[in-house]
Amino acid sequence: MGSRGVSARSDRRKILSHLLRVDVEWAQRYVEWAQFFVEWAPALRRVGVSGLACAHSTKNSAHSTAVLGTLGERVAEVERVTVFRMGMFDGKVVYITGIARGQGRNHALRFAREGAAIIGLDIAGPVIDHATYPPATTDDLDETVRLVEEAGGKILARQGDTRDLAFQQELVADGVELLGRLDHVVANAGILTWGTTWEMTEEQFTDVVDVNLVGTWKTLRATIPAMLEAGNGGSITIISSVAGLKAMPMQASYSASKFGLRGLTQTAAKELGHYRIRVNSVHPYAVDTPMGVADTEAHRIFGMRWVTPHLKSILDHHPVASPDEISDAVLYLASDGAKAITGAEFSIDMGNSKV
Ligand SMILES: NC(=O)c1ccc[n+]([C@@H]2O[C@H](COP(=O)([O-])OP(=O)(O)OC[C@H]3O[C@@H](n4cnc5c(N)ncnc54)[C@H](O)[C@@H]3O)[C@@H](O)[C@H]2O)c1
Repeated sequence: MGSRGVSARSDRRKILSHLLRVDVEWAQRYVEWAQFFVEWAPALRRVGVSGLACAHSTKNSAHSTAVLGTLGERVAEVERVTVFRMGMFDGKVVYITGIARGQGRNHALRFAREGAAIIGLDIAGPVIDHATYPPATTDDLDETVRLVEEAGGKILARQGDTRDLAFQQELVADGVELLGRLDHVVANAGILTWGTTWEMTEEQFTDVVDVNLVGTWKTLRATIPAMLEAGNGGSITIISSVAGLKAMPMQASYSASKFGLRGLTQTAAKELGHYRIRVNSVHPYAVDTPMGVADTEAHRIFGMRWVTPHLKSILDHHPVASPDEISDAVLYLASDGAKAITGAEFSIDMGNSKV
């Protein structure tokens, strides 16, 4: 670059320094960051950051103005552009069930980091008498609130049961009044119990179906009217399981409830498409949460020789997914990038359902 380039560079630094109220040395750093981001722009676009992202602030809402390049152009040739860290869900409100820990907490945190406000609930205590993994606690729920707020997010969180329709309706009404709208729903709360079809107790069957299937219907019953009233379209993501695609032994009530969620998803998708509301189900295999890894009965059953053939996956080297791997799919399904997707059964199961 010739001397014109040099003087243009130094002018740019001065303008930057003025706009950002930083000294010229800092302005130079912004230019270097800009060059870095221009180089990385295609990758950033792939993860949903539109426009140029600037590491100026970790707050989703932070804006800074600077002289930088437009995407795809060389920084040396650029004019004045706005630099911002734009969240994928800035200004949106997401209702999530089962947020005290595990996947629900992670979804809340990930949506908050992308600018969404959260309305969430968790029973934060024992759900059924026959669970073989520890229940979530009120401390867990408080921790989710702390993490979301620490990420700069707003959250209305309450302790309550998805089986209680009136409770969910009140939470939705209060959440919409406080946060102004409702755009996305993640029906995540669920439980699991074990036993053969003929030995399982009546409670083991009905409680699990009541939480996983009826409770999820109640989440939809409580939230859809508010979404329709707002008229903004949106999405609903229902967390089923690989057990909703391929039945697992010793999980009659769980599989029945998770298969049922596919019917619920498809019906709602057909009913809500013309309101621009998309409805999809997500089907994880094992996930690194208390349900997925701290269930003493699961460990015993998975050790039985006749059960193990059903546990095979295509990606056996990756036996347990991280909550982030599920959140990636949940955020994608709620995003504009998935606006052609409804009624889909989205498996994140290391190929387990195909074996
Ligand atoms: N962990 C896995 O391996 C796995 C695999 C496939 C699908 N899933 C599904 O993913 C979802 C999330 O599970 P997780 O792995 O985070 O488990 P988890 O037990 O760690 O978390 C579930 C949360 O939901 C809450 N909850 C349960 N029933 C509730 C109710 N009736 N009302 C309100 N809150 C309730 C619990 O208190 C808990 O905080 C569930 O629907 C589960 O069936 C989990």
